[in-house]
Amino acid sequence: MDSGIDWHWARAALDWQLELGADEAIGEAPVDRFALEAAEQAARARPVEPRPERGATPAPMAEPAGPDPVLVAREMARGAGSLEALRAAMEAFDFCELKRGARNLVFGDGVPGARVMIVGEAPGREEDLQGKPFVGPAGQLLDRMLAAIGLDRASSVYITNVLPWRPPQNREPQPDEIAMMKPFLSRHIALADPDLLVVMGNISCDALLGRRGITKLRGNWAEAEGRPVLPMFHPAYLLRQPAAKRQAWADLLELQARLKALG
Ligand code: URA
Repeated sequence: MDSGIDWHWARAALDWQLELGADEAIGEAPVDRFALEAAEQAARARPVEPRPERGATPAPMAEPAGPDPVLVAREMARGAGSLEALRAAMEAFDFCELKRGARNLVFGDGVPGARVMIVGEAPGREEDLQGKPFVGPAGQLLDRMLAAIGLDRASSVYITNVLPWRPPQNREPQPDEIAMMKPFLSRHIALADPDLLVVMGNISCDALLGRRGITKLRGNWAEAEGRPVLPMFHPAYLLRQPAAKRQAWADLLELQARLKALG
């Protein structure tokens, strides 16, 4: 190789990254972090502007920071009169960094207008690839759970997530990301207009109920967006902790009973 890096060296470096869990590119173009660091160091080393003399004319005020992403999201969500318009508004929303690393916007799946709307956390790898929520291993378990009480996404359930873009390496969604996408979630719920919501996992409870602690919250009806809300364990958690399926089953029966009671 001309570059001075031989094949074996490059291969070992790649294996090392894989071992660290960096098994996927998250951007279209490579980023030279060493160059970024050098640029930051150079910026830090630049002399600081001297303070103005006492009595001197003050320097003009710094440009105000850009618009507040939450307010922009609220405006865009409010203006969406249909689910298609809401999807388009989310596609056009440029303030969430996650969008840059994601392959697809994951909007929703199932039957809009169904009596049950499930709110998950954020897309994983499979969802990002297919552009649909809950299609990976956790989604397959979710489908089996719903089938156990006679529900399915082809006829009786609508599904979405708090965040429509996959966080890199499936990291935990950040509070600012949840806050800026919440107006879209609220509008999504209003437009899909379910009788009740099922929120799966801590992130969804946080977004809609303002609380975490799924072990205590699960199985207890709450209210959000003007509708009854049932918190449940996330299916990904159930895959890791099969013993918790017993409580998930109790929650599914509770959901079934509530649907019957609503008529
Ligand atoms: N986990 C979620 O919360 N949502 C998905 O769509 C997939 C996995």
